[in-house]
Amino acid sequence: MTRDLGGVLDAVLAAIVVVDRSLTIEFVNSAACRMLESSQESLEGMALEQLHGPAHPALRLAREVLASARAASQSEVPIERRFEDALEVDLSVSPLFDTEGDDEPSGVVLVMRDRTLQKDREEWADERERFDAFGQIAAGIAHEVKNPLGGIRGAAEIIGSRSGDHKTKSAADLVVREVDRITSLVDGLMVFTHGGDLAFESFNIHRVLDDVLTLLDHDPLGDEADVLRLYDPSIPDLTGDPRRLTQVFLNLTRNALQAMHEDSESADRQKTLTITTRMTLDYRLSTPGHSSLPTVLISISDTGPGIPDDVQGQLGTPFFTTRDGGTGLGLAVSKQWVARHGGVLRIESALGEGTTVRVALPVEQPGTEGATRHHGEIR
Ligand SMILES: Nc1ncnc2c1ncn2[C@@H]1O[C@H](COP(=O)(O)OP(=O)(O)OP(=O)(O)O)[C@@H](O)[C@H]1O
Ligand SMILES: [Mg+2]
Repeated sequence: MTRDLGGVLDAVLAAIVVVDRSLTIEFVNSAACRMLESSQESLEGMALEQLHGPAHPALRLAREVLASARAASQSEVPIERRFEDALEVDLSVSPLFDTEGDDEPSGVVLVMRDRTLQKDREEWADERERFDAFGQIAAGIAHEVKNPLGGIRGAAEIIGSRSGDHKTKSAADLVVREVDRITSLVDGLMVFTHGGDLAFESFNIHRVLDDVLTLLDHDPLGDEADVLRLYDPSIPDLTGDPRRLTQVFLNLTRNALQAMHEDSESADRQKTLTITTRMTLDYRLSTPGHSSLPTVLISISDTGPGIPDDVQGQLGTPFFTTRDGGTGLGLAVSKQWVARHGGVLRIESALGEGTTVRVALPVEQPGTEGATRHHGEIR
């Protein structure tokens, strides 16, 4: 059987770029087009220098390999992109010879493997392990704490109703209120156990975001900031659990408003909350066999104080908070719900400029094809 070589190279997940001796691009495969955000037509015939500038390691390595006729490689090479986040790739460059025994290569082939993918997978695996361990503790605590709480609440109600003394009554009320608060906190922890169910249905993401903004209208913090909605109207309905996602975006937008509110150093700076949606074919969410998955990117940006580097590493750890009165569950819970939709939540922040949280959600859940169905376990 003979195979079409171009088709074979297009099936490879690594980006392949072939350049001739003058460092002009002769061939790119599909993965290279996705990685470099361009089409085969516009890339082929372009000078390699034009792609990433004269100082880029890809160009330097290609020159070296042409001169030495020996393969070379470099890891963690940054690839800046116009639309998507920058990538880090492992780059290897090999000489190409027209005929066997040639001394001088007629060109080189550059192979770029996305390390971000590998890193993301490692991070997700780490995170999942952490959440699993945390989930076990949470389930144990929930079990041990909730039973006695029920008894405490009942006893406090009896004391409150039988006492004629105002002070005792209000103390009993306080006990009931605080018990309810602990109960809802413990219920919140259940998301880290495998218990929290997802009810999948077809829904409109913009409606979810609008609902969140309506809820924020009732929050005094909501009045302090301008809200900018940059919605891409071409986004189709998604399959997911709109109630859980409402909770996610409420957590994220509240964090943004709180951060801008607490930003005392720049009280005169314009407070703007920007919500942007757009479609992408983010192959980093892809599963083997599907090279790209239609994905919706939702970003929540604020003009708050930003997050210091030492804090950034701890974000999303349950109970990590820097706010008085914060529980530190907002981000952890949000990450968990997004992950269970097969999505990714990333936080980018620049001190003094603000914070952007990006949520990538696949349009379809595997196997649902837009149909309404209930799903307990998506991991
Ligand atoms: N948009 C933001 N700007 C600056 N810091 C942020 C932002 N979002 C989150 N943070 C930081 O991350 C921490 C954790 O956020 P998270 O939402 O998990 O908990 P919290 O807001 O402190 O409490 P809660 O459980 O009530 O949400 C915050 O305390 C804050 O330091
Ligand atoms: Mg929060």
